[in-house]
Amino acid sequence: MIRDFNNQELEIVKYINQYLPFREKHILSTRELSIKIAEKYGVGTDKASIAALCHDLGKRYKDDDMRKIILENDNIEYPSYITGALLHARVSAIITEKEFNITDKEILKAIESHTVGHANMSMLEKIIYAADYLEPTRKLETADKIREKIFIDFDNAFLEVVYESISFVLSKKQYLSDKTIELYNSLVTK
Ligand SMILES: [Fe+2]
Ligand SMILES: [Fe+2]
Repeated sequence: MIRDFNNQELEIVKYINQYLPFREKHILSTRELSIKIAEKYGVGTDKASIAALCHDLGKRYKDDDMRKIILENDNIEYPSYITGALLHARVSAIITEKEFNITDKEILKAIESHTVGHANMSMLEKIIYAADYLEPTRKLETADKIREKIFIDFDNAFLEVVYESISFVLSKKQYLSDKTIELYNSLVTK
């Protein structure tokens, strides 16, 4: 293990054990990679650790329940083509705040933006977005190559992660968020 869990992290791990055992391997692996990337680029590893541990908490719920939680909290009703694959990021941030009293805006934003992204992502947000895709238990061939690169040339590796994520959505002919297009454009025009 990369480093010990503090008390708050242990609480979150307990929650994961209870409600998301099917997601535990991916979450812990995302945490480990997030901490390594954060360390390399001088970003707070405590925040990276918490954001990674909480990034998929919303996945304990079915789509309809996610919709209810978002409607109650944000008074937003999303159209049916916005599925749990996208909704869970916001739900994860809501759970993180309500269940664990985590109010740090940087952490909450990193959790919330890990699926869709946006044009002005912080380093912490980018690290969680990238580690979520690159963590090794996913066993994606493309990810294996980019994982090494992220420690050498972050910007290029991050663009590749975004490219691969968009390609996947397009290959499935699914809805692609405007925010993701803005993220992509922000990376190729700077
Ligand atoms: Fe996720
Ligand atoms: Fe994830």
